[in-house]
Amino acid sequence: MKTIAVCSFKGGTAKTSTTLNVGSALAKFHNQKVLLIDFDAQANLTAGLGFDPDNYDSLASCLQEEKKIEDVLLKTEIESLDLIPADTWLERVEVTGVLASDRYAHEKLKKLLAPLDYDVIIIDTPPSLCWLTESALIAADYAMVCATPEFYSVKGLQRLSYFMHYIAERHPFEMLGLVMSFWNTRGKNNQSFIEVIEETFPGKLLNTKIRRDIAVSEAAISGRPVFERHPKSRAAQDFLELTEEILNKLSSRFTCLSSTR
Ligand SMILES: Nc1ncnc2c1ncn2[C@@H]1O[C@H](COP(=O)(O)OP(=O)(O)OP(=O)(O)O)[C@@H](O)[C@H]1O
Ligand SMILES: [Mg+2]
Repeated sequence: MKTIAVCSFKGGTAKTSTTLNVGSALAKFHNQKVLLIDFDAQANLTAGLGFDPDNYDSLASCLQEEKKIEDVLLKTEIESLDLIPADTWLERVEVTGVLASDRYAHEKLKKLLAPLDYDVIIIDTPPSLCWLTESALIAADYAMVCATPEFYSVKGLQRLSYFMHYIAERHPFEMLGLVMSFWNTRGKNNQSFIEVIEETFPGKLLNTKIRRDIAVSEAAISGRPVFERHPKSRAAQDFLELTEEILNKLSSRFTCLSSTR
């Protein structure tokens, strides 16, 4: 079982879209048993897969020892793709109930996921370096970072990199790669963005870039992955290519993040 935390410091870098489309493609085209975890109180991944977050329990109720993980698992329309939805309780869950007095609360997600039987688990995190993102990275074998070709997005990578190194020192995980979305192949600052990324995460920028395409939002509104809603779109092509690149990375060996400092 391989657990991937998808994260970024800045909002709107396509974390949720990447989790949804890569996870769905792994299940649908690569015979993988996949669990997607919506670990963001915004619940966009939950809605993007066609579920109403108000109708379901999230991992918050498991972290608070009120439900078992089996009770919050949902089957999606794609065979072998399951979802644990989000709800608003996730927001500041660490300061309520049993977690508030638990010194090791941030390791609880890792323990909850350990007995599960999936090929791949992907955790979608909120756009901040908060308790949820920390817990997701502690639970993860790999981190995947999302960024957009904008100055504030690439600047935010440095803070994220320090945060990741800090966590990886105690809970080692590997940096799987950095995905650029909203890519404009003719963007005049592309080279400078790539250089900043190279400095912060050397050798980690993934080859596949997800081009800007309205098909991504349209698919999310209809509660489906983009390759189902708009199979011929360039975003569908890009996500399928990205999924293959990620699978190749997962099956090869690379250096542990904590040892690359
Ligand atoms: N390649 C793309 N082209 C055009 N729109 C996109 C693309 N990728 C994502 N979007 C849209 O941009 C918005 C933000 O994407 P998404 O929700 O995936 O980002 P996020 O990083 O999860 O955001 P947040 O930080 O708020 O969780 C959504 O409306 C999504 O449909
Ligand atoms: Mg999101």
